[in-house]
Amino acid sequence: MAKVKICETVIRDAHQSLIATRMKTEEMLPILEQMDKVGYYSIEAWGGATFDSCLRFLNEDPWERLRKIRDKVKNTKLQMLFRGQNILGYRHYADDVVEYFVQKSIANGIDIIRIFDALNDKRNLETAIKATIKEGGHVQAAISYTISPPHVKAHTNEGFAQYAKELEEMGANSICIKDMAGLLTPYNAYDLVKKIKNTVKIPVELHTHSTSGLGSMTLLKAIEAGVDIVDTAISPMALGTSQPPTEALVATLQGTEFDTGLDLKELDKIAKHFMPLREQYLASGLLDPKVLKVDVNALLYQVPGGMLSNLVSQLKQAGQSDKLTEVLEEVPRVRADAGYPPLVTPSSQIVGTQAVFNVIGGERYKMCTNEFKGVIRGEYGKTPVAVDPEFAKKIIGDEKVIDYRPADKLKPELETLREKVKPWAIQEEDVLSYALFEQVAVKFFEQRKNAMYNLDGANADFDKKIHTV
Ligand code: CO
Repeated sequence: MAKVKICETVIRDAHQSLIATRMKTEEMLPILEQMDKVGYYSIEAWGGATFDSCLRFLNEDPWERLRKIRDKVKNTKLQMLFRGQNILGYRHYADDVVEYFVQKSIANGIDIIRIFDALNDKRNLETAIKATIKEGGHVQAAISYTISPPHVKAHTNEGFAQYAKELEEMGANSICIKDMAGLLTPYNAYDLVKKIKNTVKIPVELHTHSTSGLGSMTLLKAIEAGVDIVDTAISPMALGTSQPPTEALVATLQGTEFDTGLDLKELDKIAKHFMPLREQYLASGLLDPKVLKVDVNALLYQVPGGMLSNLVSQLKQAGQSDKLTEVLEEVPRVRADAGYPPLVTPSSQIVGTQAVFNVIGGERYKMCTNEFKGVIRGEYGKTPVAVDPEFAKKIIGDEKVIDYRPADKLKPELETLREKVKPWAIQEEDVLSYALFEQVAVKFFEQRKNAMYNLDGANADFDKKIHTV
């Protein structure tokens, strides 16, 4: 009887963290039946970045990917990551879009929806949780894990346990500790898991990253504290900014009271599929050895891997690459000003971009992005610590800070979106792709349409609908 359950992340977070989410469906399909056989508790298969990348870079329909995966994975649960009221996008959507997205995700094959909010404002999870329950899915409510200076008392293990309890009361079937930046240290994980397990009755899952070199140790201490499920990645796509390796953990627990019950020989068949792909990614430069190193910045500056690479590229574009250290030191200050939000999409981008502006603008907050103003206005929800009124005045003047659930003021938008997507829609789900990634989705729809006229992408003139060669 397996005591610790494994969620395998290779087809979602592992490649999102290592190769900018560029794994293609065709690279996954041949191994899915083996992955289904192995005995994982679940396979993480879908999320915001995979959805975006399918449309934007891979010319793939993310819905079709999900259906193809489901077709091969008949027994193991499939799970996805869901940004609460942001769905898989970067802004708040009206409830009708959130509900419809949940409905279609489950109808196309998702079993477990891991729902989080960047600010841990539970009001932003309400609609997605209710919709998942209604559709018969498993609600996994996630805590966006972060740390902040002890004196602000914003992120304590007691506070997180209390939040877990509230999520359980809202109808969660399990809790996920989502440590997106690899900040959770092993002994702290032990304490946090103990406190949550003492507070809730539902299973607890731990999601972490190996970025700072702590991943496997953190999982082990969490297991000793009684965590039920852990996220790992098959070895060729593990470590660095990805998850700790599945096989090493399985071997560690073998013969103990925590034995996962997974067979290393069966796992090896999966590793053998991904090993040549890893070599290919390295050779093409898609996998940069830099992301495989232990990164102390993660611990020093508490910046998630994806956010760090965004900062690097923003500075490069501005021709100010030498300012990276200054920006990294500015990030915690901006975060403090903004009420200590956890740094996860979209707050990580918002805080990061504002820190870049503050440094290259020569004066702090001389230029403010609309998104940063939005955070201060409460448009993303309640920040963990109240924003200092004087600071708020400096950023948004006399504008009112909203104190209701941000989506309460959003009018239903599905019908309007349906009208807009009409020229391209060939399936009901297209309206959701359009809702989330409007221009990117349209570009994809156009290419799909042309492919239907038998024009292939390499040598087609899409406007004239003819082949140029
Ligand atoms: Co992650």
